[in-house]
Amino acid sequence: MSEPVVFENVTKIFWGSKRVVRALDNASFKIPSKTVAGLLGPNGSGKTTSFKLVMGFLKPSSGKVSVFGVDPWVRGESVRRRIGYLPEKPVYPDVPVYRYLRYVAKVRNASEEDVSRIVRLVGLSGYVWMNTRGLSRGYLQRLGLAQALIGDPELLLLDEPTANLDPLSRREILELIKDLKKELGITIVIATHILPELQEVVDYLLYINRGRVVESGMLEELATRYYVDAYYYIEVEEPRKLASRLVVEDYVRGVEIRDKSLVVRINAAFKEELLRVLSLPEYSIGIRRVEMLTSELGELYEKLSGSSR
Ligand SMILES: Nc1ncnc2c1ncn2[C@@H]1O[C@H](COP(=O)(O)OP(=O)(O)O)[C@@H](O)[C@H]1O
Ligand SMILES: [Mg+2]
Repeated sequence: MSEPVVFENVTKIFWGSKRVVRALDNASFKIPSKTVAGLLGPNGSGKTTSFKLVMGFLKPSSGKVSVFGVDPWVRGESVRRRIGYLPEKPVYPDVPVYRYLRYVAKVRNASEEDVSRIVRLVGLSGYVWMNTRGLSRGYLQRLGLAQALIGDPELLLLDEPTANLDPLSRREILELIKDLKKELGITIVIATHILPELQEVVDYLLYINRGRVVESGMLEELATRYYVDAYYYIEVEEPRKLASRLVVEDYVRGVEIRDKSLVVRINAAFKEELLRVLSLPEYSIGIRRVEMLTSELGELYEKLSGSSR
């Protein structure tokens, strides 16, 4: 399937009274279909502007934006109908949660059942009669996710979904996004300036700085390219036997034994070495599955921001 979002040499200039800002500067990228993509970069790097371009709220100064194969500036309404958007600074009407969500459902032609299902999905069940004004920040973000999910979007844009949350709510929102990834199987783009917390969620990364695309790729590819640590999940008949073989390899940083599996932490650049050991006849027999779980994004972020300075 083709990519739902494609930017080709997109520049967005804001003409202020005092200064001219190039929020996006000749940016080209694609968001692969059905991935959870992290749109990453420091404050002011152009993340929110990118989302507004995708939504058709802004017109590029030059270059081409395509969403679902069409120009969102020209066909905004039809594009927006297929997108769930959690803005960076959402504003909610001062009404009970349920009334607001029912209103959103009406506008998007979704049913009452959809609202109930989504309320359960985001964990707002006990709060539907509460006024939006009474919700804590963490629950406001749940409400933000709920309104974005109404109408079965094919693409979800989440702008700084965990900003300004306490650590516990942050954790809960991330868990929720993980569940959404599993349950919905749609394309999700998460804009954030805090990378390490996305570790367990994203499979694709796009790093921008000052409106320019610095790096992009699938997580595994970037981890390998930047020599950061990665965690591999290995489903195996005799995890202990394999573990004792792996710990002697010097690129193996740690091994965690589980019931019928292992989680091995290695420097991602040594993936081939790991696969070589796994293919040795005495180990390969009981191995059922090998999969990269995640990589050390903190380390990757440091290397990426280092390379863009
Ligand atoms: N409406 C606007 N008018 C003028 N400048 C803007 C406007 N929106 C964004 N900018 C500027 O564009 C740059 C990128 O902003 P933004 O996309 O919000 O970055 P991010 O979301 O990555 O923090 C910043 O320098 C910001 O000040
Ligand atoms: Mg922003």
